[in-house]
Amino acid sequence: MSFDELTNSRFFAYRDGDLFAESISVRSLAEQYGTPLYVYSREAMLEVFDGYRRGLEGIPHLICYAIKANGNIALIKQLAERGAGADLTSGGELALAQKAGVPGERIVFSGVGKTRDEIEYALNAGILMLNVESEPELEAIDQIAGEMGKKAPVAIRVNPNIDAKTHPKISTGLREHKFGVPFEECAPLYERAAAMPNIEVRGMASHIGSSLADASPLLQALNRLLGLRDDLKSKGIEISYVDVGGGLGIRYQGESPLTSHEFASELKKRIEGAGVTLVIEPGRSIMGNAAVLVCRTVYVKKTSYRTFAVVDAAMNDLARPAIYGAHHNIVPVCAKEGTLQKIDVVGPICESSDVFGKDRELPELQSGDLLAICSAGAYGYAMASYYNGRVRPAEVLVEGSEARLIRLRETYDDLWRNQVLD
Ligand code: LLP
Repeated sequence: MSFDELTNSRFFAYRDGDLFAESISVRSLAEQYGTPLYVYSREAMLEVFDGYRRGLEGIPHLICYAIKANGNIALIKQLAERGAGADLTSGGELALAQKAGVPGERIVFSGVGKTRDEIEYALNAGILMLNVESEPELEAIDQIAGEMGKKAPVAIRVNPNIDAKTHPKISTGLREHKFGVPFEECAPLYERAAAMPNIEVRGMASHIGSSLADASPLLQALNRLLGLRDDLKSKGIEISYVDVGGGLGIRYQGESPLTSHEFASELKKRIEGAGVTLVIEPGRSIMGNAAVLVCRTVYVKKTSYRTFAVVDAAMNDLARPAIYGAHHNIVPVCAKEGTLQKIDVVGPICESSDVFGKDRELPELQSGDLLAICSAGAYGYAMASYYNGRVRPAEVLVEGSEARLIRLRETYDDLWRNQVLD
């Protein structure tokens, strides 16, 4: 496979051996902004978003971008301007959504542990619905809304007991998982909700997992939701919004998941005419292949056993390989001629899991050479940390031949910003 294909995006492509992000050379960005550096392509992100939009044209729908995938306000803003809403998992994400200009009526809030403060905040923000994950949460919302003199719009997050067939750490739709309300317990809970004085039953939600290479479990989940919705209708409970969550996978290593347009068209086929608004909560599919993490080789370390490229990015910058054993393609920023070698690309952190890739076929490297770790836009910066006293990287957004810094590289001051010093 050529390096061009390994980027998993036509917006990260080679011109005369140099990797470009849209119309800017990645090398020039690394020189200007330093490394490690997240480089985003606006077009890559919007192409996927527009695919969802086109696929759902003609039916009432709302695309709530899952902010957990990437909380950079400049990126959320781009989506919000195109009509996106937001899916939240915390009060902090509500603050990000508001800062990015997402209107309250386009926001849904999922999560098993919403606190009193978060519930109040969400009710004050006038969000579309709180996706309730348990009976005690429903009771708390009823009480808090009552104290505030409001009616809380809710959906119940249904746990449909469907196997998403994805990595066990990101599978959420089986009954042993902490998420949602078991399918058979939903109808009685809806009846309780409908009788609560400060609750307005508005919708039904589910999210069965992330990074699904095959979307059929998601379509199956939608069918289950629609069945439950009919059942509730016969009990006099009206559901106006059906939210199938996020989950559509992307290509990391040769997979071929449905495109956003294809997936949306499948959803539309199933829900057309049902008289409800379809909500989706995509995160990874929009952001995943919209960025690369650019890093510089510090040393090439050859032992009798292996060749390591020790780079200046690490698991604190991109944790997915270390946490999930996730595969991210790695390409040279300047693709030299010559034979390829098998190289382990590793970070400087003191853990054996700080490895971006083993036995990667790369041209002979020297200290100073730049590499791009692909498919890094989702759950990349979002999961970055200060581990090993490392500050978090900068982020740059490319739009055609323009680039702008959308997050400063942190400095050592950030390491002790909230520490209480004598
Ligand atoms: N909605 C809910 C309620 C979620 O929990 C999630 C993701 C999404 C939507 C977005 O799912 P997506 O479209 O991105 O698949 N850190 C992991 C992924 C964790 C996903 C958590 N929930 C990773 O790096 O693979």
